[in-house]
Amino acid sequence: MKRIFSTTLLSGVLAAGLAFSPVSSASTSYFQQFGGIAGTRSMVNEFVNRASADPRIAAYFAHTSIPALKAALTIQFCNLEGGGCKFNMNMHAIHANLGVTQAAFNALASDLTRTMDQHHIPMAAQNNLLAKLAAMEPEIVTK
Ligand code: HEM
Repeated sequence: MKRIFSTTLLSGVLAAGLAFSPVSSASTSYFQQFGGIAGTRSMVNEFVNRASADPRIAAYFAHTSIPALKAALTIQFCNLEGGGCKFNMNMHAIHANLGVTQAAFNALASDLTRTMDQHHIPMAAQNNLLAKLAAMEPEIVTK
């Protein structure tokens, strides 16, 4: 299966990014393919370590509480993978003053992709998460 990587293509098409939805068998299996909550936490841990050390975007995270970011992203990804976690943070409000560029957004997406590859996450589960994150791009990219 081909990887979905175009952030702009999917923007606006998938609008339901943060809405809590009932657990379906397909989405449950995505969550399972990430290794449930323990696998998601482990993947997020490495993803945030990678992103916050990535010279393309590290400056954005200079004053961020990394443990808090890891905790929030674990819940958010669990929610997006169909794991049933409740997540209702406002992405626009959180990122409004950060000056996130399209290049920074793409760099973060590539860090996530590398991390998911290293965790051997199946392509369909990767694409599901990437598509849902791509749909949030208009709320996050402000510059
Ligand atoms: C779809 C993509 C993204 C998602 C889902 C996302 C998600 C989140 C979440 C849930 C938080 C809150 C963490 C907390 O409360 O501690 C957060 C904060 C933050 N995000 Fe993002 N983010 C995304 C893209 C980006 C990008 C591209 C950058 C910059 C390269 C970025 C930089 C930050 C920073 C610096 C904070 C901390 C803000 C603060 O400490 O006040 N985010 N993000």
